[in-house]
Amino acid sequence: MANRELDHSEMIAALEWYSAVGVDVSVGEVAVDRFAESARAASALTGEKGRPRPAPAMPAARTEPPPVPTLGGVEDGDPQSARELAQSADTLDALRAALDGFEGCQLKLRATNLVFADGNPEAEIMLVGEAPGRDEDLQGKPFVGRSGQLLDRMLGAIGLDRDSVYIANTVPWRPPGNRTPAPAEVAVCLPFLHRQIELVAPKVLVTLGGAASATLFETDTGITRLRGTWRDLEVGSHSMRAIATLHPAYLLRQPAAKRLAWQDMLAIADAMGRAS
Ligand code: URA
Repeated sequence: MANRELDHSEMIAALEWYSAVGVDVSVGEVAVDRFAESARAASALTGEKGRPRPAPAMPAARTEPPPVPTLGGVEDGDPQSARELAQSADTLDALRAALDGFEGCQLKLRATNLVFADGNPEAEIMLVGEAPGRDEDLQGKPFVGRSGQLLDRMLGAIGLDRDSVYIANTVPWRPPGNRTPAPAEVAVCLPFLHRQIELVAPKVLVTLGGAASATLFETDTGITRLRGTWRDLEVGSHSMRAIATLHPAYLLRQPAAKRLAWQDMLAIADAMGRAS
């Protein structure tokens, strides 16, 4: 195939294809020419005078099965060591620092920033979403993109804002291409979220969407059945009232469902009035 330059519409099509398969962040200033790299590697193998170099010695026979490859080449860590690390944090700053140094979740490998939290750590209400998206990954703050703007309007409608709520996610690193976090990724990050909830100690916890709700309520029940009902939730040493509602990203796609979310917001406003 001729090695010609792409025209404008072909470049747009290529970018759309990259975006569809989840490649939406460039990691270097200069594009890497992999064809040139492999040509260099091939000529290095043939040696100075075109004579092939001796083949490298075969590795010794394996005595164990090879490790199962994972997306980032690193396996997600052990939730028990994550739990010990999370529990050793006595403050939110210490917890953020512990997560920053934690290497047990492969989502971190592809993320630009840790997205720890936003809002007021003294707030009586804490909201938990699913995972950071592109805007959140770039800014290092949860819910700053389109769904965050809708969330701000929902909160505003009941007299709340980022100074009166605390916001986090089930995983603090963006899954590539905004895919749903894998169960192993959620499991290894959950001890950190649990500790974050314990340290914030909200009176009311709101889970946003099916994924966060299923994780924190430990259920397979779908969000349409789960939402709108108060539950007592215990996380470590802390007990609180908790309610699931629809995720703002879902409401952007299904505006007719805003009626249900509004009912949940009124229930939250009511509980906050009684809680204070
Ligand atoms: N969706 C989420 O669940 N969390 C964010 O922070 C942003 C979008």
